[in-house]
Amino acid sequence: MALYKLLRPFAFALDAETAHRATVTALSMSPLLPLPDFGPELEQEVAGLRFPSPVGLAAGFDKDGEVADAMLGLGFGFVEVGTITPKPQAGNPKPRLFRLKEDRAVINRMGFNSGGQEAALERLRKRERRGIVGVNIGANKDSADRIADYAEGVKLLSPVADYLTVNISSPNTPGLRNLQVGGELVELLAAVREARTPGIPLFLKVAPDLESGDHGRIVRAAIDSGIDALIVSNTTISRPPLRSPHAGEAGGLSGRPLKALALEQLRAFRAASGGQIPLIAAGGIENAHDAWERITAGASLVQLYSAMVYEGPGIARRIAEGLKALLGLSQMANISEAVGSDAG
Ligand SMILES: Cc1cc2nc3c(=O)[nH]c(=O)nc-3n(C[C@H](O)[C@H](O)[C@H](O)COP(=O)(O)O)c2cc1C
Repeated sequence: MALYKLLRPFAFALDAETAHRATVTALSMSPLLPLPDFGPELEQEVAGLRFPSPVGLAAGFDKDGEVADAMLGLGFGFVEVGTITPKPQAGNPKPRLFRLKEDRAVINRMGFNSGGQEAALERLRKRERRGIVGVNIGANKDSADRIADYAEGVKLLSPVADYLTVNISSPNTPGLRNLQVGGELVELLAAVREARTPGIPLFLKVAPDLESGDHGRIVRAAIDSGIDALIVSNTTISRPPLRSPHAGEAGGLSGRPLKALALEQLRAFRAASGGQIPLIAAGGIENAHDAWERITAGASLVQLYSAMVYEGPGIARRIAEGLKALLGLSQMANISEAVGSDAG
């Protein structure tokens, strides 16, 4: 934290995307830190994988899989790279990433900028594969068959992924979120089921902007097609009250103003699923209290991104330590006991 406090004013003097690129480049050139030992309390099996800590890095920070091992060394229990599209694509015109400092939030309309799956495959093949790295896949904006894009991603990237996430919840690719509802979802899940490699868990990432009947339909479709976990959630297109001058920017909102909505959506998914499918919480998680609230509401794992922009990467370890303290206070020996303990 001390180091990040010193560096933050320099990073914040740059526009958000330039600062992000400089950070990823610096991390990719730094020697890898050894993986932390989180202790037995936080270790947990989810979807057949052993997670050393439930605190993961959400997709979007390491879009092209350049620094997953560096982030594991910095204290994340798992790292999700991507979203990666089949073909390389530039994404939306810049500026497209905004810090909302007064709100501890971020708005982005990156639009799946990605070096493409072939490049990611080559890069990820060179890893020595320490720690859990998931690969989040998407569809190209100009794709004539988006469902085929997902199937292709699942096939191609399985050899380098500990798990794969089917991301149909970005607000920045027009029409993408229609895949979350009805017949399209069933068709998509059938196609990825057909394309998947046995033994590689498949997660589905959803938006927080859903209506009341959607949760049950998504849960049923996911369970019926063998999806291993739901990630709740992506960024929101809604705009709770905001103070920052960037509040009017188009795109997905994340960070503190997403917290209440993401928790509400997690609770709705837990109620709809009754614990029959693991849930992974994301959206506005900033500290151990937030993580604990999601876990006790039913999440087996949590992910964060925006809070790291404000707090630095040490946030992952601080949350892990805080979770251990909260386990002790609740007289629980392992994090798995806390999952859903407040879900009713
Ligand atoms: C700049 C930025 C880029 C993102 N890109 C992706 C992405 O490519 N794929 C994805 O599934 N989620 C993406 N997300 C969403 C995050 O993974 C996460 O679901 C969301 O930000 C909520 O978590 P947070 O409030 O901790 O940031 C992005 C978020 C941000 C802030």
